[in-house]
Amino acid sequence: MFVDRSFDAYQDFLLGSKLYWTRRLYPALKDDYDRKVALAGTQPKTSEDVAQIFAGDTLYQYYAWLERHLQRLKYSGRWGLIPQHERHRTDFEALVANPPAGDLLELDPDLKLPKYYTSVDIHQHPGGVWSDAIAGFVYERGARSTTPLLQRDKDLHHRFTDQVLARRAPKRLIDFGCGFGKSTRPFYEAARDAEIVGIDLASSGLKIAARDAAEAQTRHVNFLQRDARATGLPDGMADVVTSTMMLHEMPPEVIGEVIDESFRLLAPGGLMIHLDFLEADDPFAKFIYYGHSRRNNEPYMPPLDRMGIASRIESAGFRNVKVEPFEEMPGTLAPEFKNWRFPWVMISAEK
Ligand SMILES: C[S@@+](CC[C@H](N)C(=O)[O-])C[C@H]1O[C@@H](n2cnc3c(N)ncnc32)[C@H](O)[C@@H]1O
Repeated sequence: MFVDRSFDAYQDFLLGSKLYWTRRLYPALKDDYDRKVALAGTQPKTSEDVAQIFAGDTLYQYYAWLERHLQRLKYSGRWGLIPQHERHRTDFEALVANPPAGDLLELDPDLKLPKYYTSVDIHQHPGGVWSDAIAGFVYERGARSTTPLLQRDKDLHHRFTDQVLARRAPKRLIDFGCGFGKSTRPFYEAARDAEIVGIDLASSGLKIAARDAAEAQTRHVNFLQRDARATGLPDGMADVVTSTMMLHEMPPEVIGEVIDESFRLLAPGGLMIHLDFLEADDPFAKFIYYGHSRRNNEPYMPPLDRMGIASRIESAGFRNVKVEPFEEMPGTLAPEFKNWRFPWVMISAEK
């Protein structure tokens, strides 16, 4: 938007390095692991066993260092996202200075933000996505290199939307943790007869979401600054409740509250469906997943993985609970796909 070739070059270099990490380093680490296990002649049973195998291993250290620091560098340094957005602060503020007219956007300056949320710089975003008026723009720019698969295909948010709409044609759909609207937009573009509600704690992203919807001349969406645990919306108002990449940013007790709130908001027969990450029962995969959580400031990923979310959903009263793998890009679930990827799953249930 604000052309700056040095910034673009720096960010492109980081993206290129991340792709090298995804496509070359991770498969090399996995090959190395398979070789070490074959040599040892015993299969590791837990992620701790895998950690033993990689103790002091240079390839693993290099992999781990890049995982943490490429993300850190994305935000910091002269051409990082934070200083760059700071340089253009007044321009960014101006972009969202005049909220769209009507009920597209409803902010609540008195909303109390929960501690689990404010106490972590989630995925290494300095100050999180909530503490600065222009944090939504930083997040929007940063999201472009979070899952860098770089293939010409539908974005994963559109692929998820297709999956949801194939199961239900909603009259009212709520998208929890909508951020700057990336997950909500495919719904309001595809389900034109439905009312769509995007909910998030952070005003900075909601303002961008509402501005984009206004520019797209969309009137059947509302963006509300509320807590997904207690939205204050009427009982049974929705027939679909979704979230994308939100659950892994919450501790288990908060996830439980969101599940209960989803149950309350859904009409009988309604569908709850979340897109998130749960790792397969494989020691190497768990080792990588837990390591990502540590290195990328995602402290709630392991508790999500361990909480037994399906039973928690059942105990809220839902039926037909399913946890299904999600193919975020064609071919990523095929056995021959060897690159690093998030372990995407769709977690769904019916009221
Ligand atoms: C990783 S972002 C995902 C954003 C969006 N769904 C997407 O796919 O681009 C997670 C979002 O969940 C929001 N969030 C976290 N806790 C929440 C809560 N209790 N209520 C509403 N939103 C929440 C955060 O503010 C953040 O915008």
